[in-house]
Amino acid sequence: MASPLALVLLFLLHHPLFSTANVHKLNLLRPELLSQPTPQNDAAPTLFFEVTKPIELPKTKPCTQLVLQHDFGYTYGKAPVFANYSPPSYCPSQSFSKIVLEWKATCKGRQFDRIFGVWLGGVELLRSCTAEPTQNGIVWIVEKDITRYYSLLQNDQTLAVYLGNLIDKTYTGIYHLNISILFYPAEKILNHNYEHKLGNLENLNSGYHSWADLILPISRNLPLNDGLWFEIQNSTDTQLKEFEIPQNAYRAVLEVYVSFHENDESWYSNAPNEYIVANNLSTPGNGPFREVVVSLDGEVVGAVWPFTVIFTGGVNPLLWRPITAIGSYDLPSYDIEITPFLGKILDGKSHKFGFNVTNALNVWFVDANLHLWLDKQSTKTEGELLKHRSLPLVVSLVLDFKGLNGTFLTRVGRSVSSTGWVKSSYGNITTDAIQDFHYSNTMVMKNGGDTQIVNQIIHFNDTVHITLPSSSIHSLSSNKTFPLYLYTDYLEQANETYKLGTNVELGFIEKKSASAGSQFSNSSLRNLQNGEGYMVVKNNLVVSGLGSTQQVYRYDGGKSCYFRNISSSNYTILYDKVRLTCTKKSESNLDSGLSRLWPFGAQRNFPGPRFT
Ligand SMILES: *[C@@H]1O[C@H](CO)[C@@H](O)[C@H](O)[C@H]1NC(C)=O
Ligand SMILES: *[C@@H]1O[C@H](CO)[C@@H](O)[C@H](O)[C@H]1NC(C)=O
Ligand SMILES: *[C@@H]1O[C@H](CO)[C@@H](O)[C@H](O)[C@H]1NC(C)=O
Ligand SMILES: *[C@@H]1O[C@H](CO)[C@@H](O)[C@H](O)[C@H]1NC(C)=O
Ligand SMILES: *[C@@H]1O[C@H](CO)[C@@H](O)[C@H](O)[C@H]1NC(C)=O
Ligand SMILES: *[C@@H]1O[C@H](CO)[C@@H](O)[C@H](O)[C@H]1NC(C)=O
Ligand SMILES: *[C@@H]1O[C@H](CO)[C@@H](O)[C@H](O)[C@H]1NC(C)=O
Ligand SMILES: *[C@@H]1O[C@H](CO)[C@@H](O)[C@H](O)[C@H]1NC(C)=O
Ligand SMILES: *[C@@H]1O[C@H](CO)[C@@H](O)[C@H](O)[C@H]1NC(C)=O
Ligand SMILES: *[C@@H]1O[C@H](CO)[C@@H](O)[C@H](O)[C@H]1NC(C)=O
Ligand SMILES: *[C@@H]1O[C@H](CO)[C@@H](O)[C@H](O)[C@H]1NC(C)=O
Ligand SMILES: *[C@@H]1O[C@H](CO)[C@@H](O)[C@H](O)[C@H]1NC(C)=O
Repeated sequence: MASPLALVLLFLLHHPLFSTANVHKLNLLRPELLSQPTPQNDAAPTLFFEVTKPIELPKTKPCTQLVLQHDFGYTYGKAPVFANYSPPSYCPSQSFSKIVLEWKATCKGRQFDRIFGVWLGGVELLRSCTAEPTQNGIVWIVEKDITRYYSLLQNDQTLAVYLGNLIDKTYTGIYHLNISILFYPAEKILNHNYEHKLGNLENLNSGYHSWADLILPISRNLPLNDGLWFEIQNSTDTQLKEFEIPQNAYRAVLEVYVSFHENDESWYSNAPNEYIVANNLSTPGNGPFREVVVSLDGEVVGAVWPFTVIFTGGVNPLLWRPITAIGSYDLPSYDIEITPFLGKILDGKSHKFGFNVTNALNVWFVDANLHLWLDKQSTKTEGELLKHRSLPLVVSLVLDFKGLNGTFLTRVGRSVSSTGWVKSSYGNITTDAIQDFHYSNTMVMKNGGDTQIVNQIIHFNDTVHITLPSSSIHSLSSNKTFPLYLYTDYLEQANETYKLGTNVELGFIEKKSASAGSQFSNSSLRNLQNGEGYMVVKNNLVVSGLGSTQQVYRYDGGKSCYFRNISSSNYTILYDKVRLTCTKKSESNLDSGLSRLWPFGAQRNFPGPRFT
């Protein structure tokens, strides 16, 4: 993810970096891909995409509202682009069971991957990374279920999009964008208030299926000349946001959005400072462990150990064409249960959320949305925090290096738990929230630092128990595992020319479970990607290279399942198998039908890159 500052750094650091030592740093070596010659025929733009489960939609016809059409040319350092949003009063039905945000963009020419955010009334709806274009042009579509922001969408709001792009003679790609919101009426007409209240009763331990009554933005205030996210520059930088909640809230969940850039874009491969100092290197350090720590009035209420999203220009940009890396078009957000702490903030006074990032280097973009459920039957709820435990990080670090060769083991653990009750018209409900984290990273530097191997795994368990006045206990847990393997091999071929071998394995594994009787089903997701590739880079331009990617996506939600097994190499899809049923029978004869996936006419031959 290149920002103009990173570009300047790239050029400045290029020479000293190589004369000092060969130890490379992916994000400082980020090359640009050479333009491809335009083919004779006027081929339609190529579809780039992220493999993910399609959104389950009702069988109703949506009301579609185009909320923004904009061309992002030279937008870096300028205010976000704004548009007025009004609820779709013209729709025949006003009760929606699904609301989907559709981002559709095209781009042609040469451009870096750019981070962007979409906010509605200051509440972040989408954090994403642009696809890197080709000379023939590309198109990509992100569809996100935004039903959880229902209450926000019921009022007039300002939509804001920040996408800092630079245009000059070399970087010609302008991002042409349409954002639409699709409102799907419920299949059965239900009294909305009834449905809503029932939803709250049924889903006290909920997440996505029932929506909050109010969502407060925990983001930067306007006016500003870039994103509404907070920018965290270093490990001691804490960004604070004051907020005040209605005094009749009975449940609160903080949804945190996070992305990492420049010196921390590939934080999981940053070497320990001891190694960097001993070898007089100028590469980004602070070791490979990072976490976002969230505090409320100075006390740690939870943490986020983020998934290792690789942006579309990351590791080897050829790997992500056309199948992009997991999460890169729709970065995951993370929920922290705040309900046990409600007793401390129901006083009608202003309070502060704080964000800092352990070991951070410049720069992390962090903000959040506070989802609040309000008691319609009363003007005041009350509550108390009974227990709160936030143990300091447990870190174990083993460094073993001689010169530029070495092995570093980093293990970290954290646990945060809280218990509190809230009394509302639903009764006196006690909520326990537990977060348990474990992290392990093995980093090997070989061949005088020219070969780097990273093996990392993050375990991230969230559990919420809810004790109802009847003493029945409901629980909801999400257990995530994020494995990452990264192999990079630097080989100097000639003056100003090097070959970089890059293999990567990336996984997003999540098991969710809900206690019996709740309307949620248990689910499991195993989304695994493997990429192998190389590139020959001369004077910062890729002169040849290859990227091959395999991905197996396996979701089992009990009643609904989705399986996809897909692979690409050198811009061409090798195979693509999709299965929608939960049966365990062989998927080998179920082809997805390319015409469904490539409705843009370019399905037969992906225009491959031609390098000079
Ligand atoms: C955006 O919508 C307009 C009007 O419907 C259409 O002409 C244009 O091609 C769309 N652009 C993209 C990127 O989809
Ligand atoms: C950390 O970042 C903050 C905010 O930019 C800055 O004020 C502070 O000086 C920085 N601290 C260090 C040690 O660089
Ligand atoms: C460390 O590198 C700097 C340039 O990056 C150089 O000026 C200095 O002499 C080096 N020091 C040692 C001990 O090699
Ligand atoms: C981050 O914030 C928490 C909560 O305020 C605090 O305990 C911790 O010391 C902060 N970390 C750093 C490195 O300042
Ligand atoms: C709610 O329940 C908790 C735990 O059982 C108890 O400590 C608290 O006093 C109760 N609050 C009220 C207002 O009854
Ligand atoms: C997360 O939960 C799983 C399943 O219960 C357990 O095996 C694992 O040790 C837990 N991890 C952490 C970090 O608590
Ligand atoms: C590092 O490893 C390379 C070969 O892998 C070797 O040539 C070099 O001498 C080693 N350096 C040190 C300081 O051991
Ligand atoms: C490498 O090439 C640059 C120009 O690209 C030149 O200035 C430099 O002298 C060359 N270095 C060597 C060792 O040939
Ligand atoms: C998640 O981990 C917790 C312990 O941390 C365990 O109690 C729970 O059963 C696990 N859930 C799943 C779905 O594995
Ligand atoms: C989820 O699985 C657990 C056992 O792993 C089971 O006790 C529970 O009833 C299941 N929940 C649902 C909603 O089916
Ligand atoms: C995916 O498809 C490839 C090619 O047909 C096959 O070799 C591989 O075993 C499949 N993987 C899974 C998990 O089905
Ligand atoms: C990639 O495909 C192009 C044609 O689309 C071909 O010219 C090139 O040789 C291929 N590259 C490799 C490494 O196979």
